[in-house]
Amino acid sequence: MKYFEEMKQKFEKLRTKKDVLILSVESSCDETAIAIVKNGREVLANIVSSQIDIHKLFGGVVPEIASRNHIKNISGVLNEALLVSGKTLQDIDAVAVTYGAGLVGALLVGVNFAKTLAYALKIPLIAVSHVHGHIGANYISHLDLKPPFLCLMVSGGHTAIVQVEDYCEFKVLGSTVDDSVGECFDKVARVLGLPYPGGPNIDRLAKNGKNNIKFNYHTPLSGTLNFSFSGLKTAVVNYVHTKEQRGEKFSIEDVACSFQELATDELVDKAVSAIRKTGFKNLVVAGGVGANSCLREKLEKLCKKFGVKFYAPELKFCTDNGAMIGSIAFYYIRAGRGLADLTLTAVPTVRIDG
Ligand code: KG4
Ligand code: ZN
Repeated sequence: MKYFEEMKQKFEKLRTKKDVLILSVESSCDETAIAIVKNGREVLANIVSSQIDIHKLFGGVVPEIASRNHIKNISGVLNEALLVSGKTLQDIDAVAVTYGAGLVGALLVGVNFAKTLAYALKIPLIAVSHVHGHIGANYISHLDLKPPFLCLMVSGGHTAIVQVEDYCEFKVLGSTVDDSVGECFDKVARVLGLPYPGGPNIDRLAKNGKNNIKFNYHTPLSGTLNFSFSGLKTAVVNYVHTKEQRGEKFSIEDVACSFQELATDELVDKAVSAIRKTGFKNLVVAGGVGANSCLREKLEKLCKKFGVKFYAPELKFCTDNGAMIGSIAFYYIRAGRGLADLTLTAVPTVRIDG
């Protein structure tokens, strides 16, 4: 039988198989990550090899260096995942991999590794969207969570309000018209001279700062569910440059705190509008900026006020990891989507509702 015909048959069987063990690969940016996840909810291993210390030297991720380090690390990460899970490759039912969005050279390392594994093991290969993976992170941390729900997607690549109608049905209610909120955190961190990655450093510094700076900026796009961050970003950059040019002292803690308040207000305001508009009773946050302590606090408070249940992934599942890919891949299989052949390639961007 032709290879792909055999895979289609195996994939069909997995759609109703009681226990499905997925080995998932994630290499979209600077984390080389492999996980082993059972039935979308139970993480048997989640190994993340971070390249932060390498890219820190350059103030951001250098794509070519990221790809090279994925190649160097990926086999060791697989061995560790198998060791931790107590499983062998023969126990695995399907291999899932992030095919986009991300750095194409970095993604290609994971995609080719996953293709090779799936082909050698004669098991289905599942192509997963990274952004759906971030939503999947919540299914691991919250066993009671089921669609439908409202999701605030806040990563380095995406900022959007998404109506998750079913595990694999996504409707975008609003999204950023310019920068993502993660890009904005990273840019502000950079102008403040903070090391990469910027977001967590702003979060940390803001705890010792005061919300006392009025940036020259108007709240954009009120009355819609779309976001805008470039005006805020430019206002903070201008503030810092003006202070530096005039030789005036300023507190980077206060800048971090005042910026973070405005950035998170923009997210929370739109989340409120979306709750009011849709009447949803569950709000989920997803993506790296979902690790931000100020945002989590504000969303928690907001949800209490509106009688809405708030869900956020555990911190280790907020930023890039393999477990989130293995989680959503299970629901892809159940919905009959994602089966890929050996022509699968990497793409730099994906649509959330794609
Ligand atoms: O979701 P993610 O890991 O990668 C993408 O899919 O894009 O998000 C990375 C982004 C970066 O911009 C990083 O600075 C930001 O998430 N981030 C944070 C925090 N932790 C990570 N931003 C604010 N506060 C944090 N604690
Ligand atoms: Zn991500």
